[in-house]
Amino acid sequence: MSLRTLSSRALRSGSRRLRVAADRIDAMTPPIVMAPPARTPAARTAQPAAAGNLPVSDVAPGSRQSSDFFDQYPRFYETSGTSPYRARLNLRYEAIFAEHRDVFAGARVLDIASHDGRWSLAALATGAREVIGIEARPDLVENSEANLAHYGYEPSSYRFIAGDVFEVLDKQPFDVDVVLCLGFLYHTLRYNELLGGIRRAAPRHVLIDTVCRRGTGAPFPCVNVHAERFQREGNAVADKYSFGERVLVGQPNVRAVRTMMDAYGFDFERRSDWAGLIRDNPYADHVDDYAKGLRVTLRFADRREG
Ligand SMILES: C[S@@+](CC[C@H](N)C(=O)[O-])C[C@H]1O[C@@H](n2cnc3c(N)ncnc32)[C@H](O)[C@@H]1O
Repeated sequence: MSLRTLSSRALRSGSRRLRVAADRIDAMTPPIVMAPPARTPAARTAQPAAAGNLPVSDVAPGSRQSSDFFDQYPRFYETSGTSPYRARLNLRYEAIFAEHRDVFAGARVLDIASHDGRWSLAALATGAREVIGIEARPDLVENSEANLAHYGYEPSSYRFIAGDVFEVLDKQPFDVDVVLCLGFLYHTLRYNELLGGIRRAAPRHVLIDTVCRRGTGAPFPCVNVHAERFQREGNAVADKYSFGERVLVGQPNVRAVRTMMDAYGFDFERRSDWAGLIRDNPYADHVDDYAKGLRVTLRFADRREG
């Protein structure tokens, strides 16, 4: 008999002692995970309503079909081991760039945790004048430089800094129009240093793409804290606060992100229309986190700019 069955029998019996024992068993037992239903277009279309977290799209059906941006730059399917899936990269392009073209025209962009240069190139391709990437893993910086050179971008239009983003933001002055903080906010707990650094770079806009897996629906700002291993390519790197092989990080929910950005003078403008993207690209795979509203793309504007 499994621990979980024992626990539910104890609960049904009504005895207080058994209830306490049942609570202990539940704390030890991992949750039962149901196998996901078969992935059909119909199942995917129904998902946002079931998840309840994804706002309904208000744009016309069919208008959010993927432009398959990265098919022009297929090296990015190879130069990273961190979610380099075709459909995922392409829909992320739509949510982060195509939907916010206005902020990229002629912009100077700072790409935080620039990885293999995927979003730095996307910024230039969407109209940015120049981009600076900061990435802690030197092999990814090499990939970034090779990728942008391969696709013919002028060396004067991009620069990649190999280093810890907190140290770089602290030591180097930046003056940019747009900051990209994509896939990074949940790999740190050093929010004051990060947002203080972003503030000093004086952007008009900040685009944040982040996981808000746990506590998403909480009606108050919260950050779920856990420790992640720094060996993994997509994770935090070791820093002066890490211990052993792990770094303490947090997943802020959307309210927490808004609260933190507000504290640094950035107003929330809008959340990208992932519901429309999921609806109009029903065969896209590796986007379940966005489809369930557990990952979001948020746009903020400098309050001083009105
Ligand atoms: C999940 S990946 C996100 C990559 C990309 N921005 C995206 O959204 O697809 C996180 C990236 O942050 C980088 N990173 C982690 N800690 C860092 C730090 N302290 N300074 C700079 N980069 C860091 C990792 O090496 C990795 O490339």
